[in-house]
Formats: sequence, structure tokens, C-alpha cells
Amino acid sequence: MEIKVISGDITKVEVDAIIVNLFEGVESPGGASGVVDKALDGAITKLIADGEIKGKLNEVTMIHTLGKIQPARVVVVGLGKQAELSLDRIRGVVAEACRFLRKVGAQRVATIAHGAGVGGVEYDKAAQAIVEGSILGLYTFRRHITKEPEYREIKELLIVERDEGKLPALEQGCRRGKAIAEATSFARDMTNEPANHMTPTDMAERAKEVAQTYGLEFSVLEREEMKELGMGALLGVAQGSSQPPKFIILRYKGDSSSEASLGIIGKGITFDSGGISIKPSEGMEEMKGDMAGGATVIATMCAIGELKPKINVTALIPATENLPSGSALKPGDVLRAMGGKTIEIVSTDAEGRLILADALSYARRLGLSPLVDVATLTGACRIALGDICTGAFTNNPDLLNKIVKAGEEAGERIWQMPMYEEYKEQNKSDIADIKNVGSRYGGAITAAQFLAEFAGDTPWVHLDIAGTSRSEKEKSYLVKGATGVGVRTLTNLILALAQK
Ligand code: BES
Ligand code: MN
Ligand code: ZN
Repeated sequence: MEIKVISGDITKVEVDAIIVNLFEGVESPGGASGVVDKALDGAITKLIADGEIKGKLNEVTMIHTLGKIQPARVVVVGLGKQAELSLDRIRGVVAEACRFLRKVGAQRVATIAHGAGVGGVEYDKAAQAIVEGSILGLYTFRRHITKEPEYREIKELLIVERDEGKLPALEQGCRRGKAIAEATSFARDMTNEPANHMTPTDMAERAKEVAQTYGLEFSVLEREEMKELGMGALLGVAQGSSQPPKFIILRYKGDSSSEASLGIIGKGITFDSGGISIKPSEGMEEMKGDMAGGATVIATMCAIGELKPKINVTALIPATENLPSGSALKPGDVLRAMGGKTIEIVSTDAEGRLILADALSYARRLGLSPLVDVATLTGACRIALGDICTGAFTNNPDLLNKIVKAGEEAGERIWQMPMYEEYKEQNKSDIADIKNVGSRYGGAITAAQFLAEFAGDTPWVHLDIAGTSRSEKEKSYLVKGATGVGVRTLTNLILALAQK
């Protein structure tokens, strides 16, 4: 879909449909909706009076214009109560309207800058939200479906504004929205891909393509190099699989005046069967998405490669399968992680923290700081928070607050979880320095405490996306399947850090 910002009169653009809006409780529409209403001889006002249009959030009403104005259809979307307007509501409303118009067969669509003007949202922010809502709401993953789709894709979306002076701001927001939404779609694509199409080698291949597109430094540590570095925890997880593990590294250098670099780390388990501590077969297919954190981190590098902030960022993705076999890791085994700590394996299904332990040690070896890891780490986090917000854990509240704020702006909710010392008890082992599983209780926190041992004193935040990386249903600008969660938060964080 091509997205453009143009100046002009929305009633005169040559498109199949236009999208205007209405706040709840408004009886006579103003702004662009008012202009359209007048051109339609008060059709919108009449539908409001009749009670068909109420302006309730995500309400979609279509009016056929029968030649009164250039576009053949007008869609009026409800924005809900004016006082409750947010960027996330704009994203959601645009997503609903676009999906509706795709079903109707519209190929060219125009919209006003929802929320700007009357709504009081800044023009660039409004444009960004519209672009994000449309791209993310219309997202589909059809690579493996050979049947033709029932509908055609919308080819063009125009954001139409009467005041030419607002165009630069709208264009800037549009550019940012495109970079971020396309990166998010890329993360969704990688995560939705079945595990036989997204092996660690495939992940490295995708990362390499990203590097080539944006001129990033790219390298991969192979098994031999992992051995030399002493990455016994990652190698332990990988030893059950016949797919070679890959430790993927991408570097973006946006600030040549500094050696410092932010480190972003993503869990790249391309399939998590549980290993010898095998998972129940029901729902196991979901575990193709256990590399969502890795996908998020790679995709974030796309967004910043496109937006070019003045900052250095290094992405690390330890990637492997977690499978049972004659050579697989066993409960009771003891591994030696990079840096020398020994780990007693209680469950081979607690593999995420093992590969992240080595990735955190490696990040520290490279001198990266601060560190943010993104991982589908624990079912316990999903039980605690559902799919509404991501769990966050830290040794540095300042950094966490910045990430929560970056998430808020992105429409990705993040909730801080406690890191009291007492939780550490559960990770004590009788025969090694630490064990990889505590009790059943507080499982998301004990997993984070495990990681904290390897983050040491480097400022670090761990984002557990086990609940938020997948959506069970179409909802707002999410569709069923991978959400690409984290791309927008990390990109906002990086843009904010680069401002300083
Ligand atoms: N990848 C899973 C966590 C997960 C569960 C992600 C559900 C998404 C949806 C992780 O590797 C895992 O298996 N964790 C175990 C840890 C346990 C053995 C301590 C879990 O949560 O059950
Ligand atoms: Mn697991
Ligand atoms: Zn896992």
C-alpha cells in the first residue's frame, strides 16, 4: 500500500472511499467531517439524529454518496469521547475503517488527519498513528496459502489536509509511521513463519538482508566460536538439535563521535519443544513464535536504519532450536556459562534464560550499555498479565521508566514487576552456582532474577513478551497471530536516547 500526504479538499479527491470521523455525542459534525456533511446535504447530521451514528469508539458507518461528491463512499468512524482521545485510539479506528473498506473492495482510500485540529493531537503524531493503524491493521500473512484471497488489498491511502502549512509535519509523521509499521510487519512475518521456514540459519539470513539494505555491520558467531567464547549455556540448549545455532550480531553506527553503544538482545528460540522436559503436544505449534524477541530486535534495526538517529545500537540474537534427541541436554546436567558460572539444569524447558545468560555476558564483554532484552520467556508472565501488557524487570528503575514511556507513546503497555531479593532463594542449587528453575510460584520473576545474575551491574531491562507477542484474535490494529510487540517501544526508546 502506498501512503501519501496531499493538500486539497477531501470531497474532490479521486478515490473509492474517504474516511472521516465523529466524536461521541456530537450532533453536528465540524472540521472535515462537517465539510463532507454539507456536501452531502446533511446526510451525516441526519444519521446522527436518527441514532444510527453515535460516534462510539470503533463504530463504522458507510454512506454511499451517489454522485454528490467525487468519492463514491464515505466512512464515518466513531472516535469515542473527545476527552478520551489517544494516539492508540486513532490507530485502532483507522485499522477498523481500513479493514472494512478492504472487504468492500475499495482500492484507493483517502482520510483526514484524525485527531489533529479539533482533537488537539499534533499533526505529525496524528499522521504517524494513521499510518501505523492502517499498515498494522491490514497486515496479513498469506505466504503459505495458495488460494487467492477473497478481497483485494487497498493500493493507496491518501492523508488529505486543507491547510498546506501542515504538510511538512504530516509528512514527517508519515515517514516515521511507515518506518515503524513496516518494521513491525517484518517482525510479525518472521514470527508467524513456521519453524521449518525460520531456522536459526534463516534468521541469520534475514538479519543479513537487513544489514545489506541499511548498511549495518553484520556478523554471526558459529558453533566453533561459541565454544571458544565458552558459551556453554547456549551450546547446551543447541546440542539436541541438528540445526546449527547462530549468534547473530547487527551493529548500527549513528554516532561516530562515541564508542558507547546501546545493546538490544532478543531471544531466538526458533522452536521450543521443551527439549527432554517436553511440553504437552496441545498448542505446541505456538512455540514456533519463541523467537519473537529476536525478530523484534532485528526489525528494530530496520526501523532505525531507516530513521537514522544519532546513536550507536548493537543487536544480539542467540538463535537455536530446543529439541529432544540422543544428544540433548538432560535435567540434572550442569553447564558452564560464558564467564564461568555453572548452572544446574532442572528443566530443559527453561531454555530461554540459558541462551540469554550467554548473550548478556557477551554484551558485557563488548561493553554495551545499557542493555534491553526482549523474550517470550515465561508462561508465568502470560498468566500474570495476559496479553494486555508486557512484564518489565530491571536493576535500574530510571532506564525502566524511559522504556515504559517509550511504550506508552507507541501504544505498547509495559508493567513493572518486582525484583525483591527474596525471590533469588529459589534459584539456589545444591550442586552448581545457580539452577535454571525455581518453584512454580513467581516464575516470571525468578526467571528475571536468573538473568539479573548475568546482567551484573550494567543497567538492564528485561521485557517478558510471552503474553503480548501473539494475539488470539483480530483486535484494533492487531490481527490474529504475531503482534511484533516491542519494535515500536524499542524504536521510540532509541529515538528518545538519541535526542539527548
Ligand atoms: N517459551 C516458553 C515460554 C512461553 C510460554 C512463551 C507460553 C509463550 C507462551 C519458555 O521457554 C518456557 O517453556 N518456560 C517455562 C519455564 C518453566 C519450565 C520454568 C514455562 O513458562 O513453563
Ligand atoms: Mn521453554
Ligand atoms: Zn522458550
